[in-house]
Amino acid sequence: MESAVVNLCSPGDKVLIASCGKFGERWRDLAQVYGLDYDYREYEWGTPVAPADIGQALGDDRSIKAVFVTHSETSTGVVNDMEAIGAAVAGSDAVLVTDSISGMGSAEIKTDAWGIDVAVAGSQKALMIPPGLAFVSVSPKAWDRVAKSTLPKYYFDWTKARKALAQEKPTTAFTPAVSLVVGLDKALSMIRDEGLENLFRRHIVLGRATRAAIKGMGLALFSPDDDRCSSVTAVRVPDGVEDGKLRTLIRDKYGVQLAGGQGPIKGKIFRIGHCGYYNYTDIIVAITALELALKELGHPVELGSGVSKAQAIFGQELA
Ligand SMILES: Cc1ncc(COP(=O)(O)O)c(C=O)c1O
Repeated sequence: MESAVVNLCSPGDKVLIASCGKFGERWRDLAQVYGLDYDYREYEWGTPVAPADIGQALGDDRSIKAVFVTHSETSTGVVNDMEAIGAAVAGSDAVLVTDSISGMGSAEIKTDAWGIDVAVAGSQKALMIPPGLAFVSVSPKAWDRVAKSTLPKYYFDWTKARKALAQEKPTTAFTPAVSLVVGLDKALSMIRDEGLENLFRRHIVLGRATRAAIKGMGLALFSPDDDRCSSVTAVRVPDGVEDGKLRTLIRDKYGVQLAGGQGPIKGKIFRIGHCGYYNYTDIIVAITALELALKELGHPVELGSGVSKAQAIFGQELA
């Protein structure tokens, strides 16, 4: 993400940041650190960014050089409509940059067809390997911008990376995390074997089943009830239940790790991840553990009320 800022921008550049969660804030923090002139639009956490506002902002201010937006907002479970955002940016001079760290490999993203100039991905989410590698795709329009960028960079210099890759024997400009690259090779062949359509379908069904289970057990969703939200499902902590106690019990007793909320929604939501190395039965296990733990903590929940809904989705979708 930082490399996108330093390779595309120059000090004082006007940029637009559309944020709907913790990771959207990070674009703002980076813009601040690097002295950009940023217009920060924040949407209510748990709701997506409005593509029409981006089109309007670009029409109102033609000096905007880049638009930064999160694809899959891991902190809330929202997956933004990048196709519509790409259409809103198309025709302007701005480059569209998206953080697809938890999106790439779990939610569809068509960089060229949707007009996404730079997509950032990471190794540790749907690419299924440990943290430590980051990836960017860069469009020809973005490369033109790179040529003009004057922000300082050394290790993050995309021009160096490109030059090394363009050699007769492609290489990296600096020492890469070789063990992770070997892991990535395996992960990508698993993805190829599954096929992209099946991969996205699996994530959609995992999200749909998780949401059905949550509603079935009488809990409230924080993330939208929308098939686009296929990476992680955020759930409101029910009244009378302490988030920390709930997640610790689920982890220690049932071996299932749920993530908590971040920033202003800490303690108010928990998150069930389903991006990457997840299969249908993982959701059954997570929901079973959630039902049992809620019951143990005295929250009224009928055992099986969530699991049966998830099973019904799987039965319907996978038959
Ligand atoms: C959407 C998103 N952006 C960025 C990051 C990277 O953040 P960090 O380096 O703090 O893990 C993450 C999580 O890894 C993420 O989910």
